[in-house]
Amino acid sequence: MQILFLGAPGAGKGTQCKKLAEKLGLPHLSSGDLLREAVKQGTKAGVAAKSFMDKGILVPDDVLIAMFREFLSKPEMDKGFILDGFPRNLPQAESLSTLLTELSKSLTVVINLHTSEDLLVERITGRRTCPNKECNAVYHVKFQAPKQLGVCDKCATELVHRSDDKPDVVKQRLTTYAEQTEPLITYYGNQGIVKTVDGEGEPEEVFDRLVKTLKVPV
Ligand code: AP5
Repeated sequence: MQILFLGAPGAGKGTQCKKLAEKLGLPHLSSGDLLREAVKQGTKAGVAAKSFMDKGILVPDDVLIAMFREFLSKPEMDKGFILDGFPRNLPQAESLSTLLTELSKSLTVVINLHTSEDLLVERITGRRTCPNKECNAVYHVKFQAPKQLGVCDKCATELVHRSDDKPDVVKQRLTTYAEQTEPLITYYGNQGIVKTVDGEGEPEEVFDRLVKTLKVPV
């Protein structure tokens, strides 16, 4: 299966993709996690991306397209993959389509994870993430608190508050999503591959809806 997740910042894409990747044994490619790791490592892509991410606007398309060309061309992607955060605008979607055709692949389904705006802001401002790239676990101070305050349950790394999770940057990220990414729901809808999943409720509840929608055996 080649699955793409669409959804506003804070909709729960990362949370659900990680669980689904584990259940299906598929690689989870999160553009945000890949970019944050590139920033941390100080790579050319990371240096180019940082100022855009800090403002809550999209990193230039060529950076993302080159990054995903490299990852999607790896042999381990032949069993399928879960895309989270790429593509995020029409030019990126068209580049992905060209790339998948070159690789003799196509998207099986596009999940549109839908959550109301009030909840998005509450989820994002309370988020804490594990910066360890082998883990990247996601927590919430209220909804999904770690057992020990500020420490990752899985790898004991100190959790961080993402620099783009500040209220003014969150506002810009929501605007960027509405203007540039939301039109992809229609783009893929016209291809007949979009399935909308309600992202509200407990994470387990959302996951149950997701596996039912994907018709994955429980
Ligand atoms: P990215 O990291 O992709 O951020 P995003 O799309 O804004 O998504 P988030 O990570 O904020 O939210 P999420 O939906 O994954 O929610 P999560 O599961 O964490 O991108 C960051 C930046 O990188 C962009 O602004 C841009 O600059 C750049 N970028 C990335 N891709 C790009 C591209 N293709 N082109 C150009 N630029 C790009 O959940 C959120 C919180 O809610 C967590 O605390 C979680 O614990 C909690 N939570 C989740 N589900 C539930 C639930 N059901 N109930 C209660 N709490 C929940």
